[in-house]
Amino acid sequence: MNHKTTYKLVFDAVMALLLVLMYNKNAVSMEFHELAGLVLLGIFLIHIFFNYRYFFHCTQRIFGKSLPVKTKAGYVLSLFSCIGIILMAISSVMISKTLFNIHGSNIWKTVHLSTAAALLIILGIHVGMHYQMIKKVVTKHLGNHRKIQKTLAVALTIGMLSFGLYNLATTQYLRWVSMPFSNSGLQELSHKEDRTEPRDPNLLQQTGISPLYTVLQYASILFVFVFLTKETEKTIMKRKRNT
Ligand code: HEM
Ligand code: HEM
Repeated sequence: MNHKTTYKLVFDAVMALLLVLMYNKNAVSMEFHELAGLVLLGIFLIHIFFNYRYFFHCTQRIFGKSLPVKTKAGYVLSLFSCIGIILMAISSVMISKTLFNIHGSNIWKTVHLSTAAALLIILGIHVGMHYQMIKKVVTKHLGNHRKIQKTLAVALTIGMLSFGLYNLATTQYLRWVSMPFSNSGLQELSHKEDRTEPRDPNLLQQTGISPLYTVLQYASILFVFVFLTKETEKTIMKRKRNT
C-alpha cells in the first residue's frame, strides 16, 4: 500500500463530502450550491482521469472471459456514473438560478433531482466495491489497537445505518428517486419545499438545517448503499468459497 493510494483516498473522501453537501440547496446558499456543484463535477473528471488506465484496460476486454465479474460490474457502474455526471452537468446549467440565471423548466428540475438521487445509489455501490481496500488503508494508518478499532467500527456502522434508514424515511430523498415514475412528483415536491424550507436565513438556523447536518444526513444514506454492497459482496465470496 503506497502513499499514492492514501492521497487518492483523501481526494475521494473530499469528493464524497462535497457530494453529500449538495443534497440541500440551502445548506450554505444557492450560490454556494451552484459553484460547489460545478467544482464537484470538475473534480469527478479529475478522478476519472486518475483512473483512465482502468477504463482502457476494461474497454478492450469487457466482452472477453479474462476479466473477473466484479471488474466487469465495476466497469458498467462507472459507465452509469459517467451518464449521471453528464445529465447532472446539463440539468445544472438548465435550472441554474444564480450562475447562469436560466431558470429552466420543471422537466430539467426532475432530471436534476432524480439523477442526483440515482447518483447517490450508484456511488454508494461504487464505494462499497472498494470497501476492503479502504478498510486496509484506514486500519494501516490507525495503528495496532485491533480491539478498539473493531468496537469503534461496529458502533459507527450501527449508528450510521440507523441514522441512514431514519433519513431515508424522513428526508425528500425517496421522493426524488420516484419522481421520474410519478406525474405528481414535482408538484408535490414544490408544495413540500414551500412548507419545510424557509427562505429567511434566521429561520434556517432555527430549523437546524446546517451544512454539517446535511453532510451527516446524506452521508448516512450513502452509507446504507455502501453497507448493502459490501455485505452482498461478502455473501457472494462466502458462497464461492463453499462451492
Ligand atoms: C463521491 C464520489 C466518488 C467516490 C467517493 C469514489 C471513490 C473511489 C475509490 C475509493 C476508488 C478506488 C481508489 C481510487 O482509485 O481513487 C475509486 C476508483 C474508481 N472510480 Fe471512483 N469514486 C467516486 C466517483 C466516481 C465517478 C463519478 C466515476 C465515474 C466514472 C468514478 C470512476 C472510478 C473508476 C473508473 C475507478 C477505478 C476502478 C477501480 O479501481 O476499480 N468514480 N473511486
Ligand atoms: C454533482 C453536483 C450536484 C448535485 C449532486 C446536486 C444535487 C441537487 C439536489 C439534491 C437538489 C435539491 C436540493 C434541495 O431541494 O434542497 C438540487 C437543487 C438545485 N440545484 Fe443542484 N446539484 C449539483 C450541482 C448543481 C449545479 C452545478 C447547479 C447550477 C449551476 C445546480 C443548481 C441547482 C438548483 C438551481 C437547484 C434548485 C432547484 C429548485 O428547487 O428549483 N446544482 N441540486
